Amino acid sequence: MSCQYSLLFLFLSGFTTAITVAEICKTELLEGTSCTIKLPTGNTDKSNEIKWAHLSSEAVVHRKNGKMRKNTPGLTMEEDGSLTFESVSLKNSGNYTYTVFNAEGTQIDAGEKEIKVYANAPKPTVKINKKYGITTLTCDFGERTDLTVSWYKEEMIIQNENNPNLLLTSAQVQENKPYSCSVSNPVSKEQSDSITVSFSEICKTDLLEGTSCTIKLPTKNTDKSYEIRWIHRSSDDRIHRKNGKIRKPIPGLTMEEDGSLTFESVSLKNSGNYTYSVFNYEGTELDAGEKEIKVYANAPKPTVKINNEDGNATLTCDFGDRTDLTVSWYKEDNIIQNENNPNLLLTSAQAQENKLYFCSVSNPVSKEKSDSITVSFSEICKTEQLEGTSCTIKLPTKNTDKSNEITWTHLSSGDFIHWKNGKIRKNTPGLTMEEDGSLTFESVRLKNSGRYRYSVFNNEGTQLDAGEKEIKVYAKAPKPNLTFQVVTMLSCDIGNHTDLAVSWYVDGKIIQNEKKPVLLLTSAQIQKNKPYTCTASNPVSSMESDSMTLTHETGSQSSEESSSYT
Ligand SMILES: *[C@@H]1O[C@H](CO)[C@@H](O)[C@H](O)[C@H]1NC(C)=O
Ligand SMILES: *[C@@H]1O[C@H](CO)[C@@H](O)[C@H](O)[C@H]1NC(C)=O
Ligand SMILES: *[C@@H]1O[C@H](CO)[C@@H](O)[C@H](O)[C@H]1NC(C)=O
Ligand SMILES: *[C@@H]1O[C@H](CO)[C@@H](O)[C@H](O)[C@H]1NC(C)=O
Ligand SMILES: *[C@@H]1O[C@H](CO)[C@@H](O)[C@H](O)[C@H]1NC(C)=O
Repeated sequence: MSCQYSLLFLFLSGFTTAITVAEICKTELLEGTSCTIKLPTGNTDKSNEIKWAHLSSEAVVHRKNGKMRKNTPGLTMEEDGSLTFESVSLKNSGNYTYTVFNAEGTQIDAGEKEIKVYANAPKPTVKINKKYGITTLTCDFGERTDLTVSWYKEEMIIQNENNPNLLLTSAQVQENKPYSCSVSNPVSKEQSDSITVSFSEICKTDLLEGTSCTIKLPTKNTDKSYEIRWIHRSSDDRIHRKNGKIRKPIPGLTMEEDGSLTFESVSLKNSGNYTYSVFNYEGTELDAGEKEIKVYANAPKPTVKINNEDGNATLTCDFGDRTDLTVSWYKEDNIIQNENNPNLLLTSAQAQENKLYFCSVSNPVSKEKSDSITVSFSEICKTEQLEGTSCTIKLPTKNTDKSNEITWTHLSSGDFIHWKNGKIRKNTPGLTMEEDGSLTFESVRLKNSGRYRYSVFNNEGTQLDAGEKEIKVYAKAPKPNLTFQVVTMLSCDIGNHTDLAVSWYVDGKIIQNEKKPVLLLTSAQIQKNKPYTCTASNPVSSMESDSMTLTHETGSQSSEESSSYT
């Protein structure tokens, strides 16, 4: 048993050694190959030092006195001084220099070897582009720059100029032959699937402008037909073939062998009904009928415009004066209105949600959507307005159509915003003027309080309107804190005289003048060792009390005169 195992082991290890011996590097290599650049130096017995260096990178492999130094993984030096790549990569491309020295340090050989590493060619695909009557085939292989393109028709090479595009004449297209392309580099090659270009696809009813297509003649057996006529009803364009001859050719319009009608490139005016009639040699009508096509231009990219009315906002989807387009409205990617209405009304509640809106316009063959916009909504400024809110002072002037110049000025600060000939001038950020001349605060501040004066002038500089609007901005009331305080109360006893006003003083300075005969002091407010007095006065006389000095927060006191306090 054990004997069999060791034999098997020997066999396997011998095999493994055999396959790790790398082949000799060709100049052109496929990425991932393992190979060796042989050192050309004949007899390396006398060599004491061998150095390989890659000129386009810092990679070096160096052996001296049997010791190896290297700075790049995957690169090794063989016993005989050859350079081995475990697996070449694109960045290994380039020239490698070798230098060999003997024990005395004399150079006994030197030289250079080049390798070029390539990635596998990808399988290309052929794309067809038919526009305005020209058919172009494009060989698509991504962004690679190391590949050469060739073109084939029925497997025969027809173009080898490294051009990814192949232009086909209508004659070539009509042959209905398969085309393919290949891409290659020195180490690999891939060919696309073949495609057959049929000159013209069958016209759909709805067509994009510029499409090339054919309206098939529905008549089955046209062998007996002697005369075929197509008429465009709305233009009276006609194409007519009799006895094999086309009469009155119309540019861009051709009749196929089988009587079908081909447009090189449909345009909007080609829309409409086409009637066909087929006659035999005797002039008898064999078949007749009608086909309709509708040609559309590409949808343009629409833009959303906002119109802020009192309270509500209207969004308008602007796409010029095209009449073939259907409008839809979206809020955060969900469709919310599909009634083909270019306007979307937002209530103030909706506007205040600050959501993204966009519209799309489409016709049966194309669709475009606008950029998304956020409706930021501004309410009308109240006379008393909370700090930090956004609001608008409406310009009271009714018909601003004739206005050429509008100014708003804050009387207490001189802040202004000025609109003239469509140009805005202002001296303060956060103020904007609306389309209709209204004044908008992005976020009102306490200092925005006050009166704002507006003036409106017409083209001739005549003042049409002027006036003032006032706002008062308040900060949000703070949450009061309830705390426990021990207070000292001083009373200014004036009997029951109701016609006397009481004032309070400390150290001769007035501290309360609310006519109240009591003064409340928290222990923190007490001015220690200072004399407190009160006065009682009426319009014609005044009398001051004796003073009292408060000493301790405990409320103990000393009185110069007779007052006592416990
Ligand atoms: C390598 O060297 C050869 C000959 O010296 C030169 O023609 C070639 O351009 C070099 N290649 C690179 C990648 O520098
Ligand atoms: C084409 O013909 C159909 C059916 O006869 C008709 O409904 C349609 O309106 C016509 N189209 C035009 C553009 O005249
Ligand atoms: C705003 O829209 C609501 C709901 O559509 C309507 O009831 C209200 O009258 C509108 N307000 C204004 C000022 O148009
Ligand atoms: C109430 O107390 C809190 C916490 O000390 C403080 O941040 C706040 O400003 C106080 N409110 C007022 C009205 O002083
Ligand atoms: C206070 O006024 C009342 C009448 O309003 C009177 O009866 C009383 O005597 C007065 N007291 C003093 C101390 O003057």
